[in-house]
Amino acid sequence: MATLSRSSGHKHDNHDWESLAYVSHWAEGQDKKEDLRQKPFRVLAETIPFDKGLPIKILDVGAGYGALTQFLLGYFPNATAICQDGSQEMMKMGHQRMASYEGRFKYVQSDFGKSGWSQELARPFEAVVSSIAIHNVRDPKVMEDIYREILPLLKNGGCFLNFDRPRPPFEEQLSWLRQVGYVDVKCFWKDETRGVFGGFKRE
Ligand SMILES: C[S@@+](CC[C@H](N)C(=O)[O-])C[C@H]1O[C@@H](n2cnc3c(N)ncnc32)[C@H](O)[C@@H]1O
Repeated sequence: MATLSRSSGHKHDNHDWESLAYVSHWAEGQDKKEDLRQKPFRVLAETIPFDKGLPIKILDVGAGYGALTQFLLGYFPNATAICQDGSQEMMKMGHQRMASYEGRFKYVQSDFGKSGWSQELARPFEAVVSSIAIHNVRDPKVMEDIYREILPLLKNGGCFLNFDRPRPPFEEQLSWLRQVGYVDVKCFWKDETRGVFGGFKRE
């Protein structure tokens, strides 16, 4: 697909998710740090307001090779997941890495920086989640639009939970979520560089 949308940014943020070499290098570095994500992944899983045994549907936005999806499919043994991502290379890697979950996940390619990115997704979802992905668009207005587009994808009683960087600061992102219409919005976990935050849909 064409280059994923993003506004011009800092040098250290110049990702090239279309490149096999870049994605392989990123995954190699991330593998060494995967242990550090188990705590926030667990907090996120425990915040999803459905019993572990239920056949819930999960959408992972910017799923990459599926680290969070794999955690959630393990935690909710009857769940299924849609892994949304814009990078063919990440999707290929995800198919390999999640081979043991075959039949319980499907990749859908779209650019979440462009309005309408969720059009082809079969809704509703009990949980929409994301990990270290949405900040990539950098433009606060676009991030807010992504949060707005996610709300109607949720089943009543469902949740959107984002594990991401405080860019912009969490308080600002929480206020967007409230304005858009999520309820019980808060930060559920954070350290110096990342946090798990989100809200619920109640009509
Ligand atoms: C830092 S990786 C995180 C991947 C995965 N969620 C994880 O935590 O391991 C960011 C992911 O977001 C995807 N991504 C970045 N910008 C995107 C966009 N505009 N639309 C769709 N996917 C995007 C990249 O392809 C990449 O897979």
